Amino acid sequence: MTQPHSHIATMAPYALAQMAPPPGKALVSLAQNESLRPPSPLVIKAAAEALADGAAYPDPDWTALRHALADLHGIAADQILCGNGSLDLIGCLMRVYAGPQRSVLMPAHSYPFFRTASEMAGAAVVTAPEQEETVCVDTLLAAVAPETSLVCVANPGNPTGTRIPKSELLRLRAGLRDDVLLIIDEAYGEYCDDDKTRCWDMVEDGGCVVLRTFSKAYGMAGFRVGWGLFPAAVAAQLRKVMNPNNVPHASQVAAAAALGDQAYMRETCQITGTLRDAAHGTLQRAGFDVVPSHTNFLLIRFDSAELAQEVEAALIAEGIFLRRQQGAGLPHALRMTIGPETATRAAIARLIQWKTGGVV
Ligand SMILES: Cc1ncc(COP(=O)(O)O)c(C=O)c1O
Repeated sequence: MTQPHSHIATMAPYALAQMAPPPGKALVSLAQNESLRPPSPLVIKAAAEALADGAAYPDPDWTALRHALADLHGIAADQILCGNGSLDLIGCLMRVYAGPQRSVLMPAHSYPFFRTASEMAGAAVVTAPEQEETVCVDTLLAAVAPETSLVCVANPGNPTGTRIPKSELLRLRAGLRDDVLLIIDEAYGEYCDDDKTRCWDMVEDGGCVVLRTFSKAYGMAGFRVGWGLFPAAVAAQLRKVMNPNNVPHASQVAAAAALGDQAYMRETCQITGTLRDAAHGTLQRAGFDVVPSHTNFLLIRFDSAELAQEVEAALIAEGIFLRRQQGAGLPHALRMTIGPETATRAAIARLIQWKTGGVV
């Protein structure tokens, strides 16, 4: 029988959230950092109309979407690439720049797909300690080795929810060799966007890419549209390894429509932030150790992995799915997406019940 490459045979599959509620229980899904609201009504209308064109292959160049992104963000349309989710773009970056004899450097509690994609490419993964579940530029710079080809930083981070200022990202970039590419993944960027945090200008020098997605603040995880701003030379290489026609036509049209309804997206972020901060306060007052978050989720730390596992299992028995974070080196922590208000309140009530009574 044909044997897989040894680096594939030895790697663990990417673990997605388990989401099968016990018999008779409704599913309360707070495990995948999806938006608490459906997409904008304009998105739903545009996508529905686009289905009529389904006989044709989609635009392989995402022309209308790229120009809409460029206009909105004041960036160059020809340096934008779109992916089947930002996962697609992360995979392409690894295929081009990681591989055997190369290593990918990331903070200790990084988004687990960075590791999976690096391993798929046959590269070694090196992690640098964080401080208080926050990216530490000093430890990252200290861990750079001759084999390092990529440094991946999600900002804000998942599953930590913490963020470092742009000045720290600039310091990181300045401390890296020219032949190391820095990936700044801003999947949750819209939740904490302001003029001082935008990193588009960091792409100009050629050593940095910035990734974003429609899956979170735009509420479009099911449409699978991610995008990024790339140095022209990096974009040219990525195009060689991309699947052609990677983003369906209806998804491209829907994403462009979402950009046209900024008010809806901003309102989603505002509702999410209000609910998140209230949830943080309630949990903290009940004695939980909650990491301050800039995203649509909260990380709750327990005294041990066993305790986190116990709480996770007790909630699952009620049909409520949070997610333990062993894949990100935080087996003692549960991540709770800020979902629709009733679901979020139900999860908080159960957590507090566990805390006060030891049972759920
Ligand atoms: C940090 C980060 N990057 C990328 C992604 C992938 O997003 P997409 O749905 O665009 O593939 C996620 C999804 O949870 C994420 O948390």
